[in-house]
Amino acid sequence: MRRTPFRKRKSFNRRRPSAARAVMTLEGKRIVLGVTGSIAAYKAAILVRALVKEGAAVRVVMTPLAKQFIAPLTLATLSRHPVPVEFFNPENGEWNSHVSLGEWADLLLIAPATANTIAKMAAGVADNLLLTTYLSAKCPVMVAPAMDLDMYRHPATQRNLDALRAVGNRIVEPGDGELASGLVGKGRMEEPEAIAAHVRAFFAEAAPQPLAGKRLLVTAGGTVERLDPVRYITNDSTGKMGFAIAEELAARGAEVALIRGKVSVSLSAEAKASGRVRETVALSAEEMHRACLAEFPHCDGGVMCAAVADYAPVETAPRKLKKQEERWSLELRRTPDIAAELGAAKGNRVLAGFALETDRELENAAGKLRRKGLDFIVLNSLRDAGAGFGFDTNKISVLRADGTRTDYPLKPKREAAADIADVLEACLAQRQGAAGPDGAAAPEDGKKH
Ligand code: C5P
Repeated sequence: MRRTPFRKRKSFNRRRPSAARAVMTLEGKRIVLGVTGSIAAYKAAILVRALVKEGAAVRVVMTPLAKQFIAPLTLATLSRHPVPVEFFNPENGEWNSHVSLGEWADLLLIAPATANTIAKMAAGVADNLLLTTYLSAKCPVMVAPAMDLDMYRHPATQRNLDALRAVGNRIVEPGDGELASGLVGKGRMEEPEAIAAHVRAFFAEAAPQPLAGKRLLVTAGGTVERLDPVRYITNDSTGKMGFAIAEELAARGAEVALIRGKVSVSLSAEAKASGRVRETVALSAEEMHRACLAEFPHCDGGVMCAAVADYAPVETAPRKLKKQEERWSLELRRTPDIAAELGAAKGNRVLAGFALETDRELENAAGKLRRKGLDFIVLNSLRDAGAGFGFDTNKISVLRADGTRTDYPLKPKREAAADIADVLEACLAQRQGAAGPDGAAAPEDGKKH
């Protein structure tokens, strides 16, 4: 990269420990998994393995009936701890404390939870070790029901689930699909990976959330500009970087409006479970423009990561175009520059853009930063190996409106997203209290429009 007047910030690459940085793991978290007598108990093995793999300390407690579906030895081996089932160890008569597990845990997860156990939990029955653990638990409780369609739908079960919700238990909604009975419908326990994502989302929420209360717009992917019903102009963007940014901002507590064009990725299970990313599909530059204009006034800032076409066909043919002459010219028109338009009307909001360059990188990026009225621009160069479209890594430089610049080494996109979120967070913190997003004094109670 060529040198520009941008002052290089040396200290910025130091990691800030406070931020809910990058990919959340379960390192050091203590989870008690309660397993009840459902056919879905076999999935408990996969769930234990997933939780342990992410660094959680897992202790399993089973109901007597659960032993019919999966051997305690399997779960003891995977969790690396004995699995109590009875109040007494039948071999040596040793007392299994009926409350100690509940006191030890950071989270009590009951998966699968049968209609019977759910009913007993709702009623406060304590006739097995899992239930005494539930009643004595001081930690949050998550329940993943598993039962047949009709049992799940029954008003008694629904009432019991409502009773658990009312005392703050989280319910991991069962999925739709084929049930062990052969019926098809809701009742199947959510897949272990999805449950693990709910667990991660739960701990992520409990972690510091520096962006809680902020609404942020993120655009991602490439746009699609149609010539006719079967052909279009697009680019190589996959949406990986934009999705990583949306996921990182949500992990830090922000409500994210993700407006995306054509992508080849989907939102992580963790981001889905957090419920903080609202994904809107806007395929053409025109659609993305409309969606962004509608969303941005309600946001505190935005990161424009989408690769928006600069030109679109003047006309989109309603039917497939037929080949005719040897040569054919396609008439194109400029698309709206969304970032520039938002930048001109951003008030006190923070706006970031991207610049993917192939030459004169810093100079081009600095020009875009100014022209589009951005607070900072993230530059990636196609000349850097491992950077740009399609890769799982990126090598970025951040150029700020104050004339400073930070170069980052090549790293996974989710970590690059954390660096970008750090810069955004710093910009938002700078503005905080000074004025509301439209430049007016911030309301006292911090309420947003
Ligand atoms: O001018 P250029 O397309 O290189 O600028 C890239 C930046 O501008 C990106 O942040 C991109 O999302 C944004 N952009 C936009 N609307 C356009 C073109 C680009 O928002 N029509």
